[in-house]
Amino acid sequence: MKFQAIKGVRDILPPESALWNRVEQAARDVFGTFGFAEIRLPIFEQTELFVRSIGADTDIVHKETYTFQDVPTEIDALKKVMRVSSQDFLTLRPEATASVVRAYIEHGMQTLPSNVKLYYMGPMFRRERPQKGRYRQFYQIGAEVLGTSDAPGIDAEVIEMLMAFFDRVKLKGATLYLNSIGCKQCRPVYVEKLRGELQKVREQLGPDSQRRIETNPLRVLDSKLESEQAIIEKLPRIAEHLCAECRAHYDDVKRQLGLRGITYQENWRLVRGLDYYMRTTFEITAPGLGSQNAVCGGGRYDGLVELLGGPATTKGIGFAIGTDRLVLSLQESGACETPGGLDVYLAWFGVAAQAAAIGLARRLRDAGFVVELPAVEMKFGKSLGLADRLKARHALIMGEDEVAAGVVTVKHLADGTQQKLAEPELFSYLRAARNG
Ligand code: HAM
Repeated sequence: MKFQAIKGVRDILPPESALWNRVEQAARDVFGTFGFAEIRLPIFEQTELFVRSIGADTDIVHKETYTFQDVPTEIDALKKVMRVSSQDFLTLRPEATASVVRAYIEHGMQTLPSNVKLYYMGPMFRRERPQKGRYRQFYQIGAEVLGTSDAPGIDAEVIEMLMAFFDRVKLKGATLYLNSIGCKQCRPVYVEKLRGELQKVREQLGPDSQRRIETNPLRVLDSKLESEQAIIEKLPRIAEHLCAECRAHYDDVKRQLGLRGITYQENWRLVRGLDYYMRTTFEITAPGLGSQNAVCGGGRYDGLVELLGGPATTKGIGFAIGTDRLVLSLQESGACETPGGLDVYLAWFGVAAQAAAIGLARRLRDAGFVVELPAVEMKFGKSLGLADRLKARHALIMGEDEVAAGVVTVKHLADGTQQKLAEPELFSYLRAARNG
């Protein structure tokens, strides 16, 4: 029997994994300078957490979660598990905001001074139809700010941090889309108005949008169906229905983005696919991704902490970057030079040279050089041939002569030049070669 990774799930192999590490390290560096600290979360939670936070009628919860019963996995026990309550269901996390909020409440983080700023990275699971940039196990790098303030400056700074991160990883052509979807006061009024208008054009809409007139009219605005575009353009817009507080909040977010030199496009149709959002929502697209071009989504979710049993005074805002898509876009734009590589291939010949080579390899690695040390003795030609194939920058040759003279022969593989060096000179030479 041959095994292969299941549909929508993939392995990330070298050298691509090096790019993932670089992207994740850049997130740690940039987010760290904004005062964020890492939170490590479980990859499964009670099903109910996601039903409550993301919303029972969303696509994610309605049809895309991996949900299973929390029962012992012995086959016999599995056969007997027909009688369990919904409390016994667990779900592989489709996103991490709900988990961050759960952890915030569980650990009483509202007593911490100031805003709590957390970031996370790791796999998420959604049973979507797989295609380029859309997987069933995918990865996110996300950040959340939780605290009593909903100052627009927080929204603007979170977006600034995100754009600083995209700059750091040299993502080209990112576009920031911005919207405000109002609050508990003004949104329901708008949603009813929208529903009323949608009823009038019901017959011209596809089955998904027809269903959403009842379940979630806002999601109709998300539709990509060509035949619905002209109809949607004529629908009432949320911007004209924001209450005074939401309008002022949104205006100030835009002003503060301006203070930070961040350009954006307003998109009144940006409603996002999760129920917990209010006020600010945003998405970032990047080139080279086809139809799955959102590399990041986020927004404010002020009622969520209360909804999950925490203090009503806690507000929240955050985002999640789709790491798979970010890496794809970086690869497509050619912005990712292959990092690292092999500095040294250490060819040894004879017992005495092996002992010396083991010691030298250790000292080179301690100094940060990437070293390949053959585990068995090889013929000279074969060993140097392998050094070429592994694309080492230098081959170090240690035979009995070198050991007796206390030197190594250093061969620069690109041009074939070679010289004999003692250890201190060898280290200086390799350092210079690496930097230049
Ligand atoms: P989301 O828009 O559902 O938001 O996901 C964020 C990003 O994850 C997307 O923009 C996309 O890049 C990536 N993504 C989503 N689904 C897939 C998939 N099947 N395959 C590959 N990449 C995918 C959230 O998850 C919110 N929790 C973001 C947030 C944090 N809002 C506030 N705080």
